[in-house]
Amino acid sequence: MKKMEEKILAEGVILSGGVLKVGSFLNQQIDTVFMREMGEEIARLFKDEEVTKILTIEASGIPIAVSAGFAMNLPVVYAKKNKSSNISGDVYTTVVQSFTHGNKNNVIVNKEFISPDDRILIVDDFLAHGSALTGLIEIAEMGGATVVGCVAAIEKGFQLGGDRLREKGYRIESLAIIEEMDDTQIVFRKQ
Ligand code: G4P
Repeated sequence: MKKMEEKILAEGVILSGGVLKVGSFLNQQIDTVFMREMGEEIARLFKDEEVTKILTIEASGIPIAVSAGFAMNLPVVYAKKNKSSNISGDVYTTVVQSFTHGNKNNVIVNKEFISPDDRILIVDDFLAHGSALTGLIEIAEMGGATVVGCVAAIEKGFQLGGDRLREKGYRIESLAIIEEMDDTQIVFRKQ
């Protein structure tokens, strides 16, 4: 998505450790006009997949998933994060390790929100090492649902999570893929 690349170049701030700050439009302040366009682009990409539900993870995945949900007239489910190991009840859960933040979270979705009839599209803000998307795929598949694909607003291609999931056969679409990034420049993958 050309406009995502333009927004990253205009407003992104590169931090050490391969981290890109996009708090002005995605992670803290939200550019709602652009968010609507992101939702429409996601709807266009997956229009032939008969998606029944969108799955994301709190917090920053939610606005993108909701925007796609509006564009596709679909419900959105978001997985909750919980640090406690004391989980019980009718939930699907897995552990997601964050390389960026160096912590681990349980990721939890109530069983009632995923069924074997579901064709699920997974949406998140960043795709780095792929642990969040992998956790969401696991949860969807625990519920017997079909994962039709995943969308990240921004993929950091150099951290390889997206390509590992593609190698496993999942359809992974990213609105922009950063191939290289340093203090002086950002290079996007041609899609
Ligand atoms: P992964 O899920 O792809 O493996 O990535 P990783 O564990 O490294 O990322 C952990 C968290 O950091 C995720 O958010 C992810 O979206 C975010 N993240 C990863 N790389 C970047 C980056 O370059 N810039 C920004 N702004 N975020 C990045 P999270 O912990 O789930 O946070 P939130 O959704 O609650 O905000």
